[in-house]
Parts: sequence; structure tokens; C-alpha cells
Amino acid sequence: MPDAMPFSLVVPAHEHLPSYVAALETGWSPNTLRDVSGDQLDAIRTDADAFLRSLVPQPGETIALPDGRVVERLPGCVRWMWDGAFAGSINFRHVPGTEALPEHVLGHIGYAVVPWKRRRGYAGRALRLMLDVAREAGMMRVEICCDSDNTISRRVIERSGGVLLRRMPNPHREGRTELVFRLPCPDAST
Ligand SMILES: CC(C)(COP(=O)(O)OP(=O)(O)OC[C@H]1O[C@@H](n2cnc3c(N)ncnc32)[C@H](O)[C@@H]1OP(=O)(O)O)[C@@H](O)C(=O)NCCC(=O)NCCS
Repeated sequence: MPDAMPFSLVVPAHEHLPSYVAALETGWSPNTLRDVSGDQLDAIRTDADAFLRSLVPQPGETIALPDGRVVERLPGCVRWMWDGAFAGSINFRHVPGTEALPEHVLGHIGYAVVPWKRRRGYAGRALRLMLDVAREAGMMRVEICCDSDNTISRRVIERSGGVLLRRMPNPHREGRTELVFRLPCPDAST
């Protein structure tokens, strides 16, 4: 059963890189909007320390959106799903002091599991662990988006307490509709 497996979210570190590189070498990409596997492999091979640092947003840092706009990179974190080897990636981003997000940010949390470790409940487990991280960052609830035809991700979100809030056009993919869910972040102290 999945729950019997040693599963955790880890802070990406050198010891995890060989397994992460092996995943990238298959062509798997942690970014679901754009294939970043080649760019990340180059970055790790050039300077692994700098790559690991780049996973942590820095104050004042900017990023370029697919449409060319340059925007502030929101504070947050990346965690890797780990079951003795790399299993997937999940990230959290937020605007401190508010539950609102800029229009170009599709949800507070995004995730992807490597194809050979899917259907083990990892996405759901990672999401619930990340809700604790969001709670620690002061959030009572988060918004998570998925493509309207991504029935698997929708199931992950709903099984973790997500309630459909609205539908909206995907700002990065013309003609695509996003489902926006709200999820409560459980209070670990109660
Ligand atoms: C979506 C994704 C993260 C799910 O990862 P996962 O670890 O396989 O998901 P889980 O094992 O937690 O499965 C979640 C549910 O979906 C079901 N499911 C998983 N894969 C399925 C499939 N291929 N067909 C039907 N149901 C499926 C599971 O049975 C489970 O349902 P249950 O809780 O009722 O048993 C993974 O498919 C993925 O990385 N997809 C590409 C990236 C992506 O879409 N990310 C989400 C962006 S919003």
C-alpha cells in the first residue's frame, strides 16, 4: 500500500541531484507549461550549487513570463518528492499577507510526478504536506488550478479537500480553461 512506503518532501540538496538528473535525462520536466529538462540539465552540469540556489526565490528577483512580460518572482519554495529516489516536484508560492495571487500565477501550489511513480498516491500526499507548509507561511487556505481536462489532477485536489471556485481562461495557453479550487490548510496545532 502507498502509505507503507517511505515518502517525504525533501529540500533539494546535492545528495538528491543524481536521481533528479536521471529524471531530467528521460525528458521529464518539473514545469508543466514548458519543457525545462534540457535547461535544468545544463544548469546543474555548469554549477550545481547555483542551480540549487536558483530554486529558492530571492527578494527583488524577477522572471520572464511566456508572453515576455517580466514580473516579480513570488516568495515560496520547491520540495522534491522522495521515496528513496526522486519521485516528483511540488512548489508553493504566495504573496505575503494576502491569499490573493497576481493574474498570471496559476495557483499557490503546482506539482508533477515522474511517470514511473504515478498512481501511488504521491501527488496527494505531497499536496497535503505542502498545505502544512502554506499554513506555516500564514495561509488559512490556498487556491490550486488545473486544466479542465486534467481529471487526474482534479481528483488529487478534490481528495485533499479542494472545492471548485470558478473556471477561467488559462492566461498562458490560448483556448484552454482552468479550474480554480480552494483548499483549507489544516491547523497542525489542533
Ligand atoms: C497529476 C499527477 C501529479 C498525479 O500524480 P499521481 O501521484 O499519479 O496521483 P495519485 O497517485 O495521488 O492519484 C490521484 C488519484 O487519481 C487517480 N489516478 C491516477 N492516475 C490515474 C489514471 N491514469 N487514470 C485514472 N485515475 C488515475 C488515482 O487512482 C487517485 O485516485 P484515488 O485517490 O481515488 O485513488 C501526475 O499524473 C502528473 O504528474 N501529471 C503531469 C503533471 C500535472 O498534470 N500536474 C498537475 C498540474 S495542475
